[in-house]
Amino acid sequence: MKRILALVLTVIMGAALLTGCGSGGASSGGNAEQSTKEAAADIKTVTDGVLTMATNAYFPPYEYYEGSEIVGIDAEIAKAVADKLGLELQIQDMEFDSIITAVQTGKADMGLAGMTVTEERLKNINFSDSYATGIQAIVVKEDSDITGPDDLKGKKIGVQLSTTGDIYACGDFGEENVEKYNKGNDAILALASDKVDAVIIDNEPAKSYVAATKGLKVLDTEYVQEEYAACISKDNEALLTAVNGALAELKADGTLQAILDKYIQAD
Ligand code: ARG
Repeated sequence: MKRILALVLTVIMGAALLTGCGSGGASSGGNAEQSTKEAAADIKTVTDGVLTMATNAYFPPYEYYEGSEIVGIDAEIAKAVADKLGLELQIQDMEFDSIITAVQTGKADMGLAGMTVTEERLKNINFSDSYATGIQAIVVKEDSDITGPDDLKGKKIGVQLSTTGDIYACGDFGEENVEKYNKGNDAILALASDKVDAVIIDNEPAKSYVAATKGLKVLDTEYVQEEYAACISKDNEALLTAVNGALAELKADGTLQAILDKYIQAD
């Protein structure tokens, strides 16, 4: 009986909360939406009416190919942001290493690529507010004796070129021990064929690669925690403001979380 009462109370409170949020959210959302639209009116993009996103589409679940289409968390977030700003989304696939330059030199409006905010990158480019957290994970063979970062000393480490995995691995274990690959999955294949002893790569792609490759595992130990954000040229403050406005709305109305939940299963 107590349980039923508790359940009824929970439902009533839940409903009250929901309606409370609903009306409050609608009015504040209304103002926010208006200012996002106003900000959008001022923005200049590489091609009029289009938001051009640079990415490296070999990074599931953030960006990957389904047939000839690029899908994933970043593709959906970018689409939602573009919709808010009244722009059409176009995605350009390139090497991860080229994304920041493409944005800096006006070939793309923003980079969205599971890209980590770092002090070094901030010298060259602006980052939006963060939309997700990432973890640099260590992938090894199932029978490996490597159990955490301390065991990586003197081992050959595979990374994707110019990623934070590359930067941290070189800093902590010496450039001479780091093998750099253009695609994350190439580093994973090198591990599977014993060319390297471990791969340092973002946790979610690590999980997808490992699921698709026999005999590998992701270690539980987190190597580094990070924040993902969109990179935007330092010359385009208006776009930065507009993207941050759109992201704030997508956070407030639950869209962002729904996109993340669609692709990332809770452990
Ligand atoms: N988070 C890492 C970084 O910013 C790796 C991102 C790689 N992304 C990609 N789409 N390949 O350096």
